[in-house]
Amino acid sequence: MDAKKIIHEQSLPLNESISITLQVNGEEKQLQTMPAARLIDLLRNGLELTGTKRSCDIGRCGACSVIMNDSLVNACLVMAYQANHASITTIEGDGFSFIQDAFLKEGGFQCGYCTPGMIIAAKALLDVVPIPTEKQIREGLSGNLCRCTGYSSIIRAVQRAAAMKLIIDRCSAGGNV
Ligand code: FES
Ligand code: FES
Repeated sequence: MDAKKIIHEQSLPLNESISITLQVNGEEKQLQTMPAARLIDLLRNGLELTGTKRSCDIGRCGACSVIMNDSLVNACLVMAYQANHASITTIEGDGFSFIQDAFLKEGGFQCGYCTPGMIIAAKALLDVVPIPTEKQIREGLSGNLCRCTGYSSIIRAVQRAAAMKLIIDRCSAGGNV
């Protein structure tokens, strides 16, 4: 890490609140928080966007996955101040309900605790790789753990979502399906 950045981070007074401005699901939000807060705290406690789940809290399970500036991140590993001026997409965002439909149709969940993170990871993958192979889907979801499904139904759900996205994109471009 850049030495100047480390010094800057260490110089933050821990007992004084800081102001954070960020875009969440397309809306600008301003919050006061403490320097030790993380992005997951801003989302769940500050904005009451509780679809982003807290599970391991150490970057191992992916339940807290969100998209930050076009990259998939674990919200439990991002400090709140690192999200200042960032654009964040959470499971409450618009424009990817077709992925939720695909998970429903393929039975891509049982308890559902991992599902918001899985769907966000699937969105991040399909944004970059519209027609992923099974290997690419497995790689794209490799940071997201599910203890219930055995993954086959989740893989099928992402394949179905990819096919649905293709149709949606063609329709919105005015082409034939
Ligand atoms: S709660 Fe963030 S990765 Fe598990
Ligand atoms: S559906 Fe239960 S952890 Fe994935």
